[in-house]
Amino acid sequence: MRAARTAVRWGVRHGLPAVYLRRSARSGDPVGRLLRDPAVRENPYPLHEEVRSRGPLSPSSLGLVTASHSTAREVLRSEHFGVGWDRSAAPGWVRWALRFGDDPDAAGVAEPPSMLVVDPPDHTRFRRLVNRAFTPRATAAFEPSIQRTADALLDDLGRGPDRVDLVTSYAAQLPVLVIADLLAVPTTRREDFLRWGAAAAATLDPGLPLRRYVTAERALRSMHAFLRGHFDRLRRDPGDDLVSRLVGLPEDEALTERELHATVMLLLGAGFETTMNLLGNAVVLLDRHRDQWKALLADPSGWAGAVEETLRHDSPVQLTGRTAKADVTVAGRQVRKGSRLTVLLGAANRDPEVFPDPTRFDIGRADAREHLAFSAGIHYCVGAGLARLEAEIGLRSLAERFPELRVTGTPERRDLRTLRGFEHLPVALR
Ligand code: HEM
Repeated sequence: MRAARTAVRWGVRHGLPAVYLRRSARSGDPVGRLLRDPAVRENPYPLHEEVRSRGPLSPSSLGLVTASHSTAREVLRSEHFGVGWDRSAAPGWVRWALRFGDDPDAAGVAEPPSMLVVDPPDHTRFRRLVNRAFTPRATAAFEPSIQRTADALLDDLGRGPDRVDLVTSYAAQLPVLVIADLLAVPTTRREDFLRWGAAAAATLDPGLPLRRYVTAERALRSMHAFLRGHFDRLRRDPGDDLVSRLVGLPEDEALTERELHATVMLLLGAGFETTMNLLGNAVVLLDRHRDQWKALLADPSGWAGAVEETLRHDSPVQLTGRTAKADVTVAGRQVRKGSRLTVLLGAANRDPEVFPDPTRFDIGRADAREHLAFSAGIHYCVGAGLARLEAEIGLRSLAERFPELRVTGTPERRDLRTLRGFEHLPVALR
């Protein structure tokens, strides 16, 4: 029965979209190519320009698409767009397949009730509960422990070989240890989290092949099983952390078991899957712009700007989607209720109307912070402040410890479309 469920889940969420995407990619459709074409995965930016040249909002095989900063911002902030979609409008067999394939023990981060994909009022309820842990003051309180974690990792690196994979030895480790601390999960399980997180990240892309999906689902099941034990432990012996607070909410505020899993799983995954990409992307960009690396060594006050410019120039989350909740006009175009809209965050962040000479990487860019790398509106990244702090401390500490660090060989991109980062980043530390 479970195998049948898995097959149906895969079919409706990935198998059929894959057929459709392959066909639309072959016909040259930009969104199809973004999600399927291997060359585009390596470098999506020329395709983004093709989309931009078609105007602020253009049709694609998957609904409308925008590469425009002002249109993206307007849509993300608009109450007329949501992240949920009306299942009742789907054909009967799709509704059946979604119902039959539904399995809370295998649910991923982009399935309801994950706050990423639910609209108010549920979204407001979840968001209010987690926001408290991410206020500027709460985030700043993490600074000493982030610094300690970075220093310990760098000490380890210093004792090891000169040539390492910076992703596996540092860029992935720092964020996973920080989020483990925040969620009170044992750091001894960090290699499991990294494996599970990679699987969760893959499910963000539609059209996953069956074999990859089955691996991902197995990882998601392990993650849910781990979380069940974690919640039980914290119910018995609560600490002063976010998860203890979530499992111990008073009855009138309490989350259902499914909501609890969705919320904590999202925090755990989003907490490191994206930040590791930011760290890797920054190191590669600064290696290619050695003068700016040297300028940062001479004046570390520039690191905040370097982080913003990396977020803008090579965004760790490349795209998101919205659905029109009503008939609405956007960028002078009628958008019908129920229409899907793909927002190319990575392209909006290179919009020449906002960022002069947008392809230039410049850590001194005054308006880099205008980027939409953390989205906008009610789904604006809850961990943005934490990610900025981690990246600033992580990169500054790395550069100070290994000022001669150089990328050696060709960094290998992760096989992902929604997220953008490196799987392997070979470097010489000294
Ligand atoms: C460089 C690092 C990061 C990037 C680029 C990033 C990016 C994003 C983006 C683009 C969204 C919104 C997607 C949309 O509008 O559809 C988002 C949402 C979210 N992020 Fe992040 N994120 C990062 C780090 C983090 C961290 C460190 C955490 C947690 C500790 C986190 C937790 C979340 C959560 C919970 C949401 C859902 C918010 C909601 O739906 O209201 N993120 N992130």
